[in-house]
Amino acid sequence: MIEKMPLPYNYNALEPYLSSTTLYTHYNRHYLGYLDKLNTLLKKYNLNLTKEEMIKNIDKFELKDRGQILFNLSGVLNHELYFKNMSNKKNNLPQGKLKEDINRDFGSFENFKEAFIISANNLMGSGYTFLVKDKLANKLLIINTSNQDSPYSYDFIPIMTIDLWEHAYYLDYLNNRKEYINNWFNLIDFQLVEEDYKKI
Ligand SMILES: [Fe+2]
Repeated sequence: MIEKMPLPYNYNALEPYLSSTTLYTHYNRHYLGYLDKLNTLLKKYNLNLTKEEMIKNIDKFELKDRGQILFNLSGVLNHELYFKNMSNKKNNLPQGKLKEDINRDFGSFENFKEAFIISANNLMGSGYTFLVKDKLANKLLIINTSNQDSPYSYDFIPIMTIDLWEHAYYLDYLNNRKEYINNWFNLIDFQLVEEDYKKI
């Protein structure tokens, strides 16, 4: 049984950039929907693995279950990363080790932000843009994933992400995904991102 991650703020905490209706629906209907389906699928298995380990050991599940488990498990992990690294605290600039590594790999925060926004705007269909760490190359990368694909499936460690499914923004922005992406940089909390980044 995978426990839910409580939403770390009130539903209206991210206004005016994301409305309480969007947050309520996104957390309760979408995130918890993936979690419920995942827990139903996992009922017959007795594996003592973390969510991240399950993705990397997807062959431990019966072939007929793998697609659905991977989809819902990645959906849970992607949403948890998205929700946990936003806040209304205005910690919108990286600091510490993450700042150093962003400067090393992208030249500056401004270059990084521009590349992240371009990547997010270029995503086709539903998916996510991630900042990830390629541990083998010791390098940060910006990648897009489709549907609910997780960077763990490609051997990358996800660091921060923006959900680009229409359910993440459509109530507030209609089809203006570009504005949602730009505004999201007012919500990303780099102090929270840094706390996890130091543990990688
Ligand atoms: Fe979502």
